[in-house]
Amino acid sequence: APRPGRDRFVAAIDQGTTSTRCLVLDEHAVVRGSAQLEHAQHYPQPGWVEHDPLEIWANTAAVVGRALATAGVEASDLVACGVANQRETAVVWEHATGRPVHPAVVWQDTRTEARCRRLAPTPEAVERWRAVTGLPPSTYFAGPKIAWILDHVDGARERAEAGELLAGTVDSWLVWNLTGGVDGGVHVTDVTNASRTLLMDLRSLSWSAELADETGVPLRVLPEIRSSAEVYGHGHRTGPLAGVPVAAALGDQHAALVGQACFEPGSSKCTYGTGGFLLTNTGDRPVRSRHGLLTTVAYQLGAEPPTYALEGSVAVAGSLIHWLRDRLELVRDVSEVESLAGSVDDSGGAYFVPAFSGLYAPRWRPDARGTITGLTAYTGRAHLVRAALEATCFQTREVADAMASDTGAVSGAGSGPGPGAAAGAGSALGLRELRVDGGMVANSLLMQLQADTLQVPVVAPEVVETTAVGAAFAAGLAVGLWRDRDELRELWRTGRRWEPRTDSDLPTTRWREWHRAVDRSLGWVA
Ligand code: G3P
Repeated sequence: APRPGRDRFVAAIDQGTTSTRCLVLDEHAVVRGSAQLEHAQHYPQPGWVEHDPLEIWANTAAVVGRALATAGVEASDLVACGVANQRETAVVWEHATGRPVHPAVVWQDTRTEARCRRLAPTPEAVERWRAVTGLPPSTYFAGPKIAWILDHVDGARERAEAGELLAGTVDSWLVWNLTGGVDGGVHVTDVTNASRTLLMDLRSLSWSAELADETGVPLRVLPEIRSSAEVYGHGHRTGPLAGVPVAAALGDQHAALVGQACFEPGSSKCTYGTGGFLLTNTGDRPVRSRHGLLTTVAYQLGAEPPTYALEGSVAVAGSLIHWLRDRLELVRDVSEVESLAGSVDDSGGAYFVPAFSGLYAPRWRPDARGTITGLTAYTGRAHLVRAALEATCFQTREVADAMASDTGAVSGAGSGPGPGAAAGAGSALGLRELRVDGGMVANSLLMQLQADTLQVPVVAPEVVETTAVGAAFAAGLAVGLWRDRDELRELWRTGRRWEPRTDSDLPTTRWREWHRAVDRSLGWVA
């Protein structure tokens, strides 16, 4: 049992795309309490995805309270709190009232497509954005979403210019509310979240006035950029974390990299959440991708210089399973998926390309839309569900191959051929094993199929909630609960492991057929 007043605890908030979690960890990184709440997804038009920021804030306050209660501790037993969040989702709110002027525009939302095309109409223009921000202009990122809100809410642009509005990603929204909101809340973001806006210069770690101007975002509405691990402020006396140092913020994928203790250049992790996100630590310099990956800040721990990463983002992974449940009603519960998919030997020739938001890395094709190909009268429910799992494996293989091509020089682990050349047999070159985490890791069949598709072992840590663990690690470091990264490395414990099967046709014939299926999804939107 916890010994409040003697044991030291850290709270971590993981505000994700579909739910908000809070974990309470002790100083051995053992989870002592947790709580989770889902929030509503709003789809007002095809391609649009919105959240209610007030619902997200209310859920955050509620899960913090419940997690503390399940751990049997009080806010005063916490030495710090860290925040990890869904990235790129844009919120604009009134400084004076704390009221959002519009629903949050979620990272998956494609409404800024024409705007992004205008920002970078030619390949040369795309390269210019990449050179400064590490990103190609895409509907994925937050800056153009903020500009869209300012242009579509009556009077918002004028009010923004007048300093009446605040904008930011979900970390900013939560930290502002946690630290007091209208009563002195601090308006900050961390370097990892800022690196997903299209507005931050990756090297100087400051807003690019030029790009913000081109995007249509007044610098006034943007938060101050801070490191990922430092005390930004303290929980407001009336809130769920009264007096607790709010001491870390990281985009959830960056937090997972920290939670997986991927501190060496070349170390990688893949998180299977709403989307799938493979990140590789590239050390103290940003590496320019030649194969469709993103260059991003991995983390910056306090006064240290930043560490960079390359990222392959897949827009749709777990959300496809939710879609099968909620929109197609093929399953009643996510827990049925594994046994249903395991009731058949393969997908019966069916391929699912879930390009609901176009295709992200490594292809960046906003013109793609979802397809299911290879159907015959033989195809059943189980085959479709299995094809959905395989889609996650194939998409991850695409980014793993791109990563191998881009990071050969970084990891020294081989500079294998690019995605095209990798279409034969063999492993995703460069990876010796893949550290995995996130909700879908509970699906053991999926992890086995992933090992088969990549032809490398797949390894999960004992605590698969690495996003929350990473936020806790960063917050604990900021207040001196843990000394350094070496200490964090020792807290990482191996859980399950899946070895690749050598007789699988996933990395051979099926991998080739997957590419044909993807070809059919491209160019659907003119
Ligand atoms: O870039 C979007 C990502 O941060 C969302 O993460 O865990 O909600 O899939 P998740």
